[in-house]
Amino acid sequence: MNDKERCQSMMVEFDGMLLDYSRQRATLETMDKLDKLAEAASLKQHINRMYSGEHINSTENRSVLHVALRAPRDAVIYSDGKNVVPDVWNVLDKIKAFSEKVRSGSWVGATGKPLKDVIAIGIGGSFLGPLFVHTALQTDPEAAEFAKGRQLRFLANVDPIDVARNIAGLNPETTLVVVVSKTFTTAETMLNARTLREWISSALGPCAVAKHMVAVSTNLTLVEKFGIDTNNAFAFWDWVGGRYSVCSAVGVLPLSLQYGFPIVEKFLKGASSIDQHFCSAPFEKNIPVLLGLLSVWNVSFLGYPARAILPYSQALEKFAPHIQQVSMESNGKGVSIDGVPLPYEAGEIDFGEPGTNGQHSFYQLIHQGRVIPCDFIGIVKSQQPVYLKGELVSNHDELMSNFFAQPDALAYGKTSEQLLKENVPQHLIPHKTFSGNRPSLSLLLPSLNAYNIGQLLASYEHRIAVEGFVWGINSFDQWGVELGKSLATQVRKQLHASRTKGDPVEGFNFSTTTLLTRYLEASSDIPADPPTLLPRI
Ligand code: F6P
Repeated sequence: MNDKERCQSMMVEFDGMLLDYSRQRATLETMDKLDKLAEAASLKQHINRMYSGEHINSTENRSVLHVALRAPRDAVIYSDGKNVVPDVWNVLDKIKAFSEKVRSGSWVGATGKPLKDVIAIGIGGSFLGPLFVHTALQTDPEAAEFAKGRQLRFLANVDPIDVARNIAGLNPETTLVVVVSKTFTTAETMLNARTLREWISSALGPCAVAKHMVAVSTNLTLVEKFGIDTNNAFAFWDWVGGRYSVCSAVGVLPLSLQYGFPIVEKFLKGASSIDQHFCSAPFEKNIPVLLGLLSVWNVSFLGYPARAILPYSQALEKFAPHIQQVSMESNGKGVSIDGVPLPYEAGEIDFGEPGTNGQHSFYQLIHQGRVIPCDFIGIVKSQQPVYLKGELVSNHDELMSNFFAQPDALAYGKTSEQLLKENVPQHLIPHKTFSGNRPSLSLLLPSLNAYNIGQLLASYEHRIAVEGFVWGINSFDQWGVELGKSLATQVRKQLHASRTKGDPVEGFNFSTTTLLTRYLEASSDIPADPPTLLPRI
C-alpha cells in the first residue's frame, strides 16, 4: 500500500466507475501472471465465442447471448445464423406499448378500473434480478416520480405465506399479475400462478383472467394452455439463461409497468456500456476481466473460497442475493466443460449485506476470524441526501466514512505494539489484535440511477463468466438443481396418496419415513379433499 506506483496501476476507470484493487494480495507480478493465465485459458477467445453466438453452453446446446438483450437497435448479433437484435426490439417495443397502456389507464381491469398494482410471480432468475433492480430504483428520485401511486410486488416462494403477504391489502380489481417463467413448468411458479388465478377469478369471475394476467416465457404453448392470451405474452429465447434474464421481458416488463419504459431503457444502456467495454478493452483496463481474474486468484491460489458483497447503499440490499444465484448457480460445478472432474474447486460462496448493517453483524469474522475477500461498493452521490444543521458531516458522508475506513482496517489491521502504546492491558492484547493483510476491492460509482444499476449488473455478470472461462467449466447450465426437484415429486405423490387414501409412507429411508409420518400424523385433521381456501389476511 506504500508503493504509489503499484497502487496507481491498480486503479481502473470506465464510464464513471472506478475500481481500486490495490488492497488485493497481489503484486504487479501477480497481475502479470494472471494475464498469462487468462491467455493460457484462451479467455479472449471464449469472450469472442460468447458474443458471436456460438453454442458455448454445450450441455444444453445453446448460445449465451444476454448481451443481445441490451444491444442498440442497429446492432447485429447472430444466434444460429439469425440476427436476434430485431426480435429483442420487437419485444421491447411491445412492452413499451403495453406498459404505457396500463400506466395511462387505457388498459383497465374487468370492472373498468385502472391496474395500479402488479404482482410478478417467478422464482430464481425469474425473480432475483428484477427484485434487485426494483429495490435499487425505488428511492431513485427520477424513478420514484414515475412510480407514484403504483406498487410492484414479487411472489416467489411456494410457501402460502408468501401468497398471503403478496395479496395483503391488494384488490384484485386493480391488480395485474405477471407470470414469469422461462420454462412455464417450474412447480413453485405454476402453483402460485394457479393460486392467483383463483384469487382473481373467485373475486371477479373467470373471464377476468384475460385482463388481469399476462406472462413472460420462452414457452408460449404452455402460456396458452394455462389460459393466458398469447397476445399478452412477452417472449424471450433459450439463449437467455434464467439468471441472466433480468434484461429480457423477465425484468423489463414488471419494471416498465412500475417505472415506465424510458427508465428501464436507461438501465439497459448502462448494461450495454459494460458489454462494449468487456468485449473491447484490453485486459489490464477491463473491469469485469480484472474482477474475474482476482476472484480466481483468491479462490484457487490463495484458498479463500468466499466473497462478501458489501454495498454501502441500502438501495442495493438485494444485490448480494441476486449475485448469489448468478455466481453460485453458474460456477458451482465439479467437472470441466468436457465432463472431467476438476482437480481444484471452482465457484465462490457469495454472501453480503449493505454496509453499515453488515458491520454490526458478520464483520467480526471478516476482521479477526476467517479471511473473506470483500467487495466494497460505494456511491458518490446519494439517491436521498440528508443534511442536518450542526452535524459534523451529512448522513451520506457518515455512511461513506465507513466505506473508506473498513478496507484499510482489513488491510492494515492492528499490531500488539500499537495496542501497547495505547496502554491496552496485556491480557486483552491478543483479543484486540487485528492480523491485517485481508484483501478487498473497492468499486466507486458516481450515483445510483437506472444507468449505473445496469453497469453494476453487467460488470458482475461478466466477472462470473470470466471466472468460469478460466476454471474451464460451463457457467451456463445448472444440472445441480434437478435432483432435489425430482425427489420432491416422489414426496408430493406420497403426500397425496397418504392424505387421500391413507396410504402408509413407503419407499423412503428411515429418517425421511419417520419425519413424513410425523408430519402426516400431526396434521391428520386436514380433510382429504378440502375446499379451495385462500389466505384470509
Ligand atoms: O431452479 C433453477 C432454475 O431453473 C433457475 O435456473 C431458474 O432461474 C429458475 O429455476 C426458474 O426457472 P423458470 O424461469 O423456468 O421458472
